[in-house]
Amino acid sequence: MTRFVGLIGYPLKHSVSPAFQQAAFSHLGLDIRYEAWETERRDLRTTLEGMRDPSKLGANVTVPYKELVLPLLDDVSRDAHRIGAVNTIVNRGGMLAGFNTDGPGFLKALLQDGAFVPREKRAVLLGAGGAARAVGFALLEAGVSSLTIVNRTPERAEALAAALNAPGVGTVALPWADERVETALKGCDLLVNCTSVGLKGSSAEGQSPLEGSLIPRHALVYDLVYNPVETPLLAAARRVGARVLGGLPMLVYQGAASFELWTGKPAPVDIMMNAAKRAL
Ligand code: ATR
Repeated sequence: MTRFVGLIGYPLKHSVSPAFQQAAFSHLGLDIRYEAWETERRDLRTTLEGMRDPSKLGANVTVPYKELVLPLLDDVSRDAHRIGAVNTIVNRGGMLAGFNTDGPGFLKALLQDGAFVPREKRAVLLGAGGAARAVGFALLEAGVSSLTIVNRTPERAEALAAALNAPGVGTVALPWADERVETALKGCDLLVNCTSVGLKGSSAEGQSPLEGSLIPRHALVYDLVYNPVETPLLAAARRVGARVLGGLPMLVYQGAASFELWTGKPAPVDIMMNAAKRAL
């Protein structure tokens, strides 16, 4: 029997997950098809109900539903619950379980592809949405000494800083216009862009969240945006001499972790990485 895994989001035309997940299933000879289940908000509940069928192994969840699916699931992992977002659903005999693989994917890319060890380092996060929440919790668990969250909507940054509240770690929320942003950037070891600024197809396509003069040249500049591969932020960071890391490795590693949750088999990460690169 052919089984199915879906990607739930709206719109889905820019996603490369179908390409690299299908490459992994095919490589291992698994009779599984990865499909784009583009879903409008009013149909979200119906799409999830349909996932209880034995032919459905599970799904990935992407923008704008990572938070909205939580109350529709039977079980949510501790990490996904804390982050407040689910990116992976597994159908366990008709019961839907939610997970979040963004944090582990982010850390694996940081360590392996960025050669950066976060322990006792000072980090600045741009953004306070679902991606920033996963990254914030992952960095705290990895032992950063301080975390500054800068966001356009200050209340969202404050809510994330409060949720992250960890003893001994300086967690600060700042609006973009605050003069302390410049100081935090100057003193940081790691800058992570968790906003969608620069993303192809978005209203901020072609833009950088930071002008060149504010980019810390001694830091690792990590952009979660993977399309384009070299974002305006990364291009500007390169120009000032900073080390850079793009979002593609994280995308593939979070997908590989999802693959392992659905199949129980080790993911063929190299196959997935090559397929993702080809699809971009
Ligand atoms: P995701 O799940 O991918 O994190 P999200 O929850 O919609 O998506 O979060 C998007 C992030 O990008 C937010 O931090 C958002 O800022 P707001 O909280 O103020 O909305 C940020 N963002 C998106 N477009 C932006 C722009 N043009 N300028 C600055 N920040 C932007």
